[in-house]
Amino acid sequence: MGFRCVTVVCLLYFFVTNVSSKIPKSTSVYKPVVIVHGIWDKKTSLDFMADRIRQAHPGTNVTVVDLLHGTSSLAPMWDQVEAFGAVARQISMENPEGIHLLCYSQGGLVCRGMIETFPDLNVATFVSLSSPQGGQYGDSFLRLIFHKAVKKTVHRIFYTSPGQRYSVANYWNDPHHQAGYIKSSKYLPYIDNIIPTARNNDYKINFLRLKKLILIGGPDDGVITPWQSSHFGFFTEDESVENMENRDVYTQDLFGLKSLQNKTKIYTIDGVYHHEWHQNVSVIDNCIIPHLD
Ligand SMILES: *[C@@H]1O[C@H](CO)[C@@H](O)[C@H](O)[C@H]1NC(C)=O
Ligand SMILES: *[C@@H]1O[C@H](CO)[C@@H](O)[C@H](O)[C@H]1NC(C)=O
Ligand SMILES: *[C@@H]1O[C@H](CO)[C@@H](O)[C@H](O)[C@H]1NC(C)=O
Repeated sequence: MGFRCVTVVCLLYFFVTNVSSKIPKSTSVYKPVVIVHGIWDKKTSLDFMADRIRQAHPGTNVTVVDLLHGTSSLAPMWDQVEAFGAVARQISMENPEGIHLLCYSQGGLVCRGMIETFPDLNVATFVSLSSPQGGQYGDSFLRLIFHKAVKKTVHRIFYTSPGQRYSVANYWNDPHHQAGYIKSSKYLPYIDNIIPTARNNDYKINFLRLKKLILIGGPDDGVITPWQSSHFGFFTEDESVENMENRDVYTQDLFGLKSLQNKTKIYTIDGVYHHEWHQNVSVIDNCIIPHLD
């Protein structure tokens, strides 16, 4: 009898302290999820993934940020960081315990810029879903946007001021024209902290606030080139692939990637084409949802 009374008291105590304190903000124990789309995506492109998360974790506030769709997704990367960042910061401010960022393809590079530049963005888990974090150098990707461009010569356009008005040019990483890349690219070499600026230290401090970094990609992607770019790998000058662990950005820990190694989980998944990552139930259930606490 004594035991029962104690149990009831405990339960009451639990409800009063936990439930009541949480009701005003949110009825869910899961942190809000903010989803950022990639190139050409439509308003509804990522709804399937959002719904799957809501089903698995009922009550989660999942926001697919409704901005810069279609051709607008070619807007310069820093503009996208500002636009998506404003929405994510607002949600972050309303949820002091933090948010999760789930970012697909080009969106993963936008999100990395947001994380590095906004000290008031409180991100617990950053899921980078088939995003060219190491940069991009390949014809299949290029032709999604510029049908007649070829990778060998497009640096002549991309590494100029007018060319840099396209998002893709901001992370085009031509292994044969690294001088042009460093000189002209306005985005990736900056968030990689390759270019010395007054903000290098802030970018690193902000990035290191992540509690978990999840990198998802695989050899059958077909669009991200090299596919290892989804894991921060990239081409060397002879177009062999250097994995993250051997690249300067990692070995020199330029923006915190190495320091974050024990909080990083890398998934290499076969059999998923680029446009299927966010529709593949096994990827969503096994590689993404378990990290959205
Ligand atoms: C979900 O988050 C958005 C953005 O913070 C907020 O406006 C909305 O009220 C939230 N919805 C619920 C059900 O908590
Ligand atoms: C990461 O984990 C390894 C082995 O588990 C450990 O030796 C190393 O000190 C850890 N590194 C950091 C930066 O925590
Ligand atoms: C989903 O991904 C798995 C790998 O995790 C793959 O084997 C499977 O074929 C994919 N399913 C679909 C419908 O593409």
